[in-house]
Amino acid sequence: MHSIEHYRNEFISYLASKTETREPINLYEPISYILGLGGKRLRPVLVLMATEIFGTDYKKALDAALAIEVFHNFSLVHDDIMDDAPLRRGKETVHEKWDINTGILSGDAMLINAYQLFENYDGDTFRSLAQLFSKTAIEVCEGQQYDVDFETRDDVTQAEYLKMIEYKTAVLVAAALKMGGIVANATIDDQNSMYEFGRNLGIAFQLQDDYLDAFGDPETFGKQVGGDIIENKKTFLYLKALELGSATHKKELLDLFSIQPADSSDKIKTIKTIFQNSGSAERTHKEIENYTNKAFSVLETLKISDDKKGLLQQFGKNLMRRKV
Ligand code: IPE
Ligand code: IPE
Ligand code: MG
Ligand code: MG
Ligand code: MG
Repeated sequence: MHSIEHYRNEFISYLASKTETREPINLYEPISYILGLGGKRLRPVLVLMATEIFGTDYKKALDAALAIEVFHNFSLVHDDIMDDAPLRRGKETVHEKWDINTGILSGDAMLINAYQLFENYDGDTFRSLAQLFSKTAIEVCEGQQYDVDFETRDDVTQAEYLKMIEYKTAVLVAAALKMGGIVANATIDDQNSMYEFGRNLGIAFQLQDDYLDAFGDPETFGKQVGGDIIENKKTFLYLKALELGSATHKKELLDLFSIQPADSSDKIKTIKTIFQNSGSAERTHKEIENYTNKAFSVLETLKISDDKKGLLQQFGKNLMRRKV
């Protein structure tokens, strides 16, 4: 096994060797741009790590890792259009730097590129990877649709929210880990345990993403702080504030989340205070910890050595501490 940092660096070199900007420039330049902006590279690292955990050289998994990262970046380009987001990883989003049509088409090409990368695998491995990928990609679309539908609803339940984030975010984290298992030909039980570990970690990850969207440091966060509040996103912070807050909190939340004022700074300030004072911010932290611990307890069912489990735990703990 190598360190998390080693897998990340190996992946970044592989990515650099595979990205070229060719004609038509306006299709490919935005792709190189978004893939080159960095990001945490969590999903490809998980693919590589899982492959080696099951005893196979991570190099065999580089194309699967690249497919996942290209798909993830495709989803971000389209997500930023849907969320009207100006910033990504501290830089202009693709549709801001170019335009919406560019974002749509470059995103489409990335999705197709991701599929093509699985063609580098043979027989059963190809089939299993492609099957898992298609199932996951369609679930991400379903999650994204729920996310948008919820913006204009005022009766979203916590159960609905959890399903939504499982689909838009957690299943891709889960699939990344399972893909490592597929490339390494691990037993189906082990593949499924890896998936379950990733699903719980992915839910914790999106809860944290929601938290940082409101409380992240604008200097380092890399995305527009308060973006979810502007877009009336029904996040865990919002739903918990409705549950735990006073009658006044509740009325203010419902009122402010039914409008989109041109200047949103007062709205963001008021809502963040409610998230804090209602106890919702603290409850969200607790929930992130709960889901991370759930993920760790799934690790018990995996037939791998303790130091390998330790590496996965380290990964999960780092996620809980992250600021971006
Ligand atoms: C952002 O994912 C989208 C979510 C699912 C929350 P990341 O936080 O992994 O984004 P990058 O790739 O590190 O920028
Ligand atoms: C994104 O959720 C999930 C996908 C891109 C599929 P968000 O909309 O919360 O992600 P960010 O915060 O823009 O990265
Ligand atoms: Mg978004
Ligand atoms: Mg979104
Ligand atoms: Mg977000």
